[in-house]
Amino acid sequence: MLWKDEYELGVPLIDAQHKELFKRVESFLQALRSATSWDEKIPEINKTLDFMKRYVVEHFHDEEEYQKSINYPGYKCHKQIHDDMVNYVLDVSKQYEKCNTNEPLMQQFGGRLLAWLINHVAAEDQLIAAYAKKKGVSGNDR
Ligand SMILES: [Fe+2]
Repeated sequence: MLWKDEYELGVPLIDAQHKELFKRVESFLQALRSATSWDEKIPEINKTLDFMKRYVVEHFHDEEEYQKSINYPGYKCHKQIHDDMVNYVLDVSKQYEKCNTNEPLMQQFGGRLLAWLINHVAAEDQLIAAYAKKKGVSGNDR
């Protein structure tokens, strides 16, 4: 498991969503790397893309609501980073819909998802936790 407890923000809803994202990205990468044929990988790819399109938007929304609730000063920039990621997921998804045999696209997508997730959760999102701590605002009511 690539998730580390040190990634926790101390906000149960957000932490649970982050863990779920890690879990999904990991199983997606495992499926991509497995020795099976491309055709056998397609169901997992479809499943992951559908999940990401829905869950990433949902999660970002919840995280942004939390940021607003504690008056997080980095909200605007953070939301921009989220929006860019949503656009990337939608863009890959569109490309894949046109051609579902594009293996390099999916390999790149898996790698980028994982790198983005680790960087974002371990760095950007930690700034929210640091701010909440400094201000003494708890996230545990969410
Ligand atoms: Fe975030």
